[in-house]
Amino acid sequence: MQTIRKVIIPVAGWGTRSLPASKNIPKEMLPIYNKPVIQYVVEEAIKSKISDVIFVTNRDKSVIEDHFDYNLQLEGVLERAGKLDKLQTVREVAEMVNIMSVRQKKQLGLGHAVLCARALINNEPFAIMVGDDLMFGGTPGVQQLIDVAMTENMPVIGVMEVPRDKVNRYGIVAGEEISPGVYRITDMVEKPAVADAPSRLAIVGRYVLTPDIFDYLEKVTPGVGGEIQLTDALQAMAKERGMIAVKMSGIRFDAGDWADYLSANIYFGLQDEGLRYDLLDRLKQFVQFQ
Ligand code: UTP
Repeated sequence: MQTIRKVIIPVAGWGTRSLPASKNIPKEMLPIYNKPVIQYVVEEAIKSKISDVIFVTNRDKSVIEDHFDYNLQLEGVLERAGKLDKLQTVREVAEMVNIMSVRQKKQLGLGHAVLCARALINNEPFAIMVGDDLMFGGTPGVQQLIDVAMTENMPVIGVMEVPRDKVNRYGIVAGEEISPGVYRITDMVEKPAVADAPSRLAIVGRYVLTPDIFDYLEKVTPGVGGEIQLTDALQAMAKERGMIAVKMSGIRFDAGDWADYLSANIYFGLQDEGLRYDLLDRLKQFVQFQ
């Protein structure tokens, strides 16, 4: 498979689970410790040697593109104040990566958001990273998929095992294990009832796909929740030309889920030496008050 240079990051959803925090601030811009959610996702892409980021946005989300651009006024203020470490921090974000964006004018689902980026992909394999899904630890998340896509020369999707009572929140795959943690997909279903789930392997927000996925997406009709589901297109593609699932290692946080969002803040807070002990003390106090 050709080198993966581009990633589509859909960020155009309504973020209803994150309301009221996300009423006027995109949930992808909510902070986790000292960075917005989306910066962690872009940093993972960069660590995975991806050079071009394509955001799928909507009319209220331009602040996401602005975050990865220069802010000359702020930079001037920091420079004049001698706050050179802060200056470097804000400049680094602007210089991280090439950014392109395309609008999803109606929020018709994740599959539709990906389809909106078709014209920017041309005819090469690419990655998709869901803009509110964070992965940390060990090999960068999407790099794990790129490695397998290169050796197997097949489209690859990331999965993680979830508890049985949570399978109805995810796309679930069934597959035949061809090497440890690598499965040839035999079945895929979006948000199955607990009793109907073919496994506990849940699709998490990382994919490495070939451009023929767009032809499958064109044919998808609205599925679960009336949305154009990416999983429906993947299912058709897996059946006709084969697809691999890779059990991903590391910790995952769904920033749209409050327990995960708050845990991610604590996870990063505890990694800051200057904050760790105060934070632990506060956490102990809270536990005592329960
Ligand atoms: P989610 O289902 O997690 O996001 O979609 P949502 O729809 O914004 O949030 P809730 O469920 O209402 O809280 C996963 C990703 O796909 C994007 C979202 O922005 C999110 O990053 N998405 C979703 C789109 O870009 N367009 C859509 O039509 C739907």
